[in-house]
Amino acid sequence: MIRKKIVAGNWKMNNTVDEAVYLLSSIESLLEEENIPENLHVVIAPPFIHLKMLTDLVQNAEYMHIAAQNCHHEDKGAYTGEISAGMIQSTGAKYVILGHSERRLYFYETNDLIKLKVISCLKNDLTPIFCCGEVLAERESEKHFETIKNQLVEGLFHLESEDILQAVIAYEPVWAIGTGKTASPQQAQEMHAYIRALIAQFYDEDVASQISILYGGSCNPSNAAELFSQKDVDGGLIGGASLKSADFVHIVKSI
Ligand code: PGA
Repeated sequence: MIRKKIVAGNWKMNNTVDEAVYLLSSIESLLEEENIPENLHVVIAPPFIHLKMLTDLVQNAEYMHIAAQNCHHEDKGAYTGEISAGMIQSTGAKYVILGHSERRLYFYETNDLIKLKVISCLKNDLTPIFCCGEVLAERESEKHFETIKNQLVEGLFHLESEDILQAVIAYEPVWAIGTGKTASPQQAQEMHAYIRALIAQFYDEDVASQISILYGGSCNPSNAAELFSQKDVDGGLIGGASLKSADFVHIVKSI
């Protein structure tokens, strides 16, 4: 099976209804004339309230998919303010970003909780984009491989082979998110290769070769092509640069 390439825009807490429609429409029209490779998914992750509207808007562009930025792990119940995977699935969205470092940091999400969210997504036919990444102090003390291993083992590797094949991994060094400091292509490749080797160790080579691993953290129009040219980098999770249609489309075209 040929590995999927993915460029995903994480809008975070940005865009009103009108702004969301405008941004999505302008991304779509800029991509209209492009030759999109068959194995490429362009994913947009807006705030929850725009999910249904955006899935309706992308219906004619087969390569475009909508993602949620989080979900609750329970199916339903008295959890004021929360959104379940089943509700997300009912909007037509196909992906859910899980374990983003901002969720881990500001909302105290642990590997154990993220593990439950992964299960809930798969139960609802949603593809989790499982985020992992080390903070600067961990990289400086050379604990970055250990951190990534823990996050993957505790949050994702509980899955059986056929289930982990439904997941996507995003390596996002926390020190690179929103800071303008990108991992060098070599640093990204080194970690992506490490993650793929770990998958081979916990599953097998075949599973490892099929899972897409995205890079995230200050990816922009000028560094995307070099990052994406690395052997184990299958695309990107783009924050700030996904809020400007021209920049985002430039990054999509760099794949
Ligand atoms: P950034 O964010 O591109 O703004 O660094 C990436 C992310 O948080 O997914």
